[in-house]
Amino acid sequence: MKKDNDFFKEKFNLFKQKSKPISMITCYDFPSALMVEKTGLDIALVGDSLGTNVLGYSSEKDVTISDMIHHTKAVYRGLKLTSLVADLSYGTYVNKKDLLENSLLLIQAGADAVKFEGFYPDYVFELISNNIDVVCHLGLLPQTHQKKALQANSYESAKVLIENALNLEAAGAAMLVLELVPEEISKLVRDLLTIPVIGIAAGRFCDGQVQIWHDVLGFSKKYYKHIKNYEDLDSTCLNALKNYVTDISANKLLEFEHSFHVDEAIVNDLKNTFKLD
Ligand code: KIV
Repeated sequence: MKKDNDFFKEKFNLFKQKSKPISMITCYDFPSALMVEKTGLDIALVGDSLGTNVLGYSSEKDVTISDMIHHTKAVYRGLKLTSLVADLSYGTYVNKKDLLENSLLLIQAGADAVKFEGFYPDYVFELISNNIDVVCHLGLLPQTHQKKALQANSYESAKVLIENALNLEAAGAAMLVLELVPEEISKLVRDLLTIPVIGIAAGRFCDGQVQIWHDVLGFSKKYYKHIKNYEDLDSTCLNALKNYVTDISANKLLEFEHSFHVDEAIVNDLKNTFKLD
């Protein structure tokens, strides 16, 4: 169980002031949270990518607030020092009342901050007025954009992104996630903002990086330009499970030492009782 209740915004502003890169990864369950904690990652993100990576939904839009709460609680149980950010899922912040109610549910489930997609400075203000730290998300917005296309790649669109980022910071955001943006633009945003800018497919110069658990470990079999696969755990797990099935089929799963035993006399008595040879 998490012990410290440090202030998210202050903690990560300090990282930026000291030029200490922030490490963040998506995390959806208790055993993964234990690993996140052990490896010293700075932030676990219960992203709404939960839907496509874990729950078998075809879109982030299918994720409900109950899904988010359930998985945020599981991740929270595995963390001590790692900070926890949870996504507000699609349709849960259509007005300030919903925004606040659903954010409070995520905070009660253990999140240190909530994240939402898009340019809503008044939402940031509403949340910080209620002592809730906010992470904003600009660039590609999976809850809105159907196609994964590079964002902010013209003067006009980059100018809008930069202005939006500055306004979200002014409204009180604690952190900004930038997704699928040219690194030249995320570098400008990083330089203009005092809050940390965390990139996913946003190049080398952000204050921190976030990637999807299943991509980093090779469960997803996705090989986009921005993804660094550190392992191929999908193949590793498949091989292990194939060997398991083969052993059972060949009646070779358990040896004598893998079983529990009783005295032969007991077995003989039982055989007599039930008239078995
Ligand atoms: O839901 C998620 O995994 C995210 C990442 C793309 C940052 O929001």
